[in-house]
Parts: sequence; structure tokens; C-alpha cells
Amino acid sequence: MGVFLYSKDYINFKKKELSIKIDSLKQKQGRAPSLTVILAGDNRASLSYVRIKDKLAKEIGMKSNIVKFDKDINEKELLIKIDEINNDDAIDGVIVQLPLPEHISVNKIIDSISPDKDVDGFHPINLGKLFRGEDALYPCTPLGIINFLKYNNFSLEGKTGVIIGRSNIVGKPLFFLLLKENMTLTIAHSKTKNLKDICKNADFIFAAVGKPLMIEQDYVKKGAIVIDVGVNAINDEKLINEVFSDYPKKIERFKKRGYVLTGDVNPNVVKTAKYLTPVPGGVGPLTVITLLENTVKTFEQKHEIS
Ligand code: GUN
Repeated sequence: MGVFLYSKDYINFKKKELSIKIDSLKQKQGRAPSLTVILAGDNRASLSYVRIKDKLAKEIGMKSNIVKFDKDINEKELLIKIDEINNDDAIDGVIVQLPLPEHISVNKIIDSISPDKDVDGFHPINLGKLFRGEDALYPCTPLGIINFLKYNNFSLEGKTGVIIGRSNIVGKPLFFLLLKENMTLTIAHSKTKNLKDICKNADFIFAAVGKPLMIEQDYVKKGAIVIDVGVNAINDEKLINEVFSDYPKKIERFKKRGYVLTGDVNPNVVKTAKYLTPVPGGVGPLTVITLLENTVKTFEQKHEIS
């Protein structure tokens, strides 16, 4: 029987560290690092994520600003706004919350962000540097996971890992970051055959596919470390009662709200694994704190502080 690996301690530790750093940067440079978050459209989950980012940034003394556009904004207007931000010396980091409305080219928008302000680490220059193993602004979720694993003193070198999911935001950059730590990796996806067998041999499993409860207990080697990146809302009462029979609070929450949040991993995997990150309370907060860390990094680089 393993345990759920909450990120709360790590987040509190990082919040303190960043607050102290921002205080001292303010004294030296006369202003705090500043983040701008662009949101286009009315995706409810995106709005909630953006608010969480803004709130935490302010909590640790950073300047933060949300720029909202409605869903029929055109690409040109968005590009003009990004250009304005790129040229604004008082803004250190900018992200465009994804997904964008369908008529907008995500790549065109990401490519227009100044690589020095790209605190999401999605610009091809930053991704290219990651590919080459150079220092850069790295994507927040994968980098947050690496930092969290190190904080917990997990040894990664020579260990086997399976990443399930090949997105540009998580799967692919996570592969390169874990490779840098000398792990031996497999990247699995929707066309992978024998996923269960592949997972069963792994010391670490990173699930980032967006398929609720896909990784079951029999996918996991005894004593493995399982990192669940998925966030899915489910409302199937029968399934919820079955999966969460050991977690009555989850069932209560379902009765109140009509849905529960779950990862890509069945929580009962904790019985076989050594550690499983919970959903919520695991990977989600790592993304946010790492975004703020990246913003402080851009500020320091701009002012040549290291
Ligand atoms: N949507 C889901 N994850 C992310 C992220 O890390 N950054 C941005 N900008 N959008 C997202």
C-alpha cells in the first residue's frame, strides 16, 4: 500500500522562496516581476485556471494582469496585442491560455511571443533549446514535475519511465526533461500496443492523456511512482461509486456538485504503487508555481541577476 503524494508542502516552500526573492528584486530594481495572461473566449476551465494564476502571482508579490478577449477576436487583433506586450519593458512574462478559439492558429500566436517573455516555454526557440539540452524557459507542467520529483529526493538516473501522451504542452517536453535526468524512457500514445505490459515494467509512470481513470491497478509495478497529469470531470454515478468506494468524501462531493474531478489514473492504483499524485492536489498546482518561477527567471535574466 502506497501513499498519495500531495504537492502542498512543495508549493508552500516555493511560495516562501519566491516571495523573498521578489521582495529583494523589488528593492534592487524598483519594481516587481510582471506577468500578463491573455485569455480569448469563454472556456470555463480556462477562466478558472487564469484566475488561479493571477491570484497566486499577486499573493507572492508579483504584478499580474489578465487581458480578456471574446471568442470571436481575430488573429490580427491578438497578434497586435502580443506585439504591444513584447515591446512593453514593464512586462516580463506573457502567456496565452490554451485552448484558443478554433479559427485562431495556435502556432502563429505562440511564434509571435518574444522568446524572452515566453514563460510557458512553448516558443520554438525555447523548445529547440530544450531539445539541445540547453538552459531556456521550459514548459511549466513538465518542469514543475521534475522540480517536485527532485524536492522529494527521488532518484531518476537509470530509472525506467513511461510517458503516456505526446502533447506539445506535457508529453514531448517531459520526455526531454527526463532524458536530461538520465532516465530510460518510453513515450506511449493512442496507437501504442501492449500499453499495460510497457507500464508494468516502469519505475515511473507519467499519465498525460486526458482519459479519465485509464491507468488501472494492473498497469502498475509494485512500488512504482505514478504521476497523474490528467484533470477530468466525470459524472457517471455508477462508476464514481465503484471507483471511489474507499473515498466517501469524493462521493459526497459528487452528490453536492454533480461531478467529481479525477485524473487519468484510477486512485486505487495507490494500493500497488509507492506514490501516486492525487487529483486535485498533485500536479495542477505545480504548473502554476512554475509559471511564476519562470516569470522571475525572465526578470532576472533581463536585469542580469543570477
Ligand atoms: N492549457 C492547459 N495547460 C496550459 C499551459 O500550461 N499553458 C497555457 N498557456 N495553456 C494551457
